[in-house]
Amino acid sequence: MGAHKRSGIRHLTPALSTPGGGGGEWIWRSAADAVVALVALTIVAGGFVAGLHAGLTYNTFPLMDGHLVPAGYAQLRPFVLNWFENVAAVQFNHRLLAMTTIVAVLLLWTAARRRADLSDGVRRALHALLAVTALQMVLGIATLLLVVPVPLAAAHQAGALLLLTAAIALRHALHHPLRHAPLPDGQMDGANRAAL
Ligand code: HEM
Repeated sequence: MGAHKRSGIRHLTPALSTPGGGGGEWIWRSAADAVVALVALTIVAGGFVAGLHAGLTYNTFPLMDGHLVPAGYAQLRPFVLNWFENVAAVQFNHRLLAMTTIVAVLLLWTAARRRADLSDGVRRALHALLAVTALQMVLGIATLLLVVPVPLAAAHQAGALLLLTAAIALRHALHHPLRHAPLPDGQMDGANRAAL
């Protein structure tokens, strides 16, 4: 039993430190949860774009027929029908969710750069997530501008899977978000006690 004991301490910055020692980590986990949810929603929205062949129209970016929000976004009644059956609204929603996803990933990545105490695993997961998100955006925009050539559309579909995987990998890495160093007096923090 003793041989399996590991001891360590978390180097907490003031921003992470709250009474109880777990403070701040939940913010990172919640942010990663939000990114996973955003990617999943964007994928569902992409399915509607493909299903309605909505990528064959409005083949410009960022404007749609000269507008940021396309005219006719809300033409169907009841309003909620637009999200499933209106080509303009379905494509706009997919773009909006994709842009929100990349902004969220960028914010998380930038916040992580300011933190010296995050583990290498979290850092690697964030770099991978940013790279895959950027690639997926480029693939999506290229698919749209070139009016959905099948190889690009297939690559965009595969990219969605890769992106969801990268987001889940980040969430997984956040189980142990901080660097650990040995404690001189054999004390254990909560995470190490749980690992016994
Ligand atoms: C977070 C970023 C994105 C994700 C996760 C994503 C995901 C998806 C998915 C899963 C599909 C359905 C593929 C299929 O069923 O064949 C799709 C379709 C599509 N996406 Fe995206 N997408 C993203 C960004 C974008 C962006 C920025 C654009 C362009 C502005 C775009 C344009 C399209 C188009 C045109 C289609 C239809 C392709 C077809 O008809 O096969 N996507 N997307």
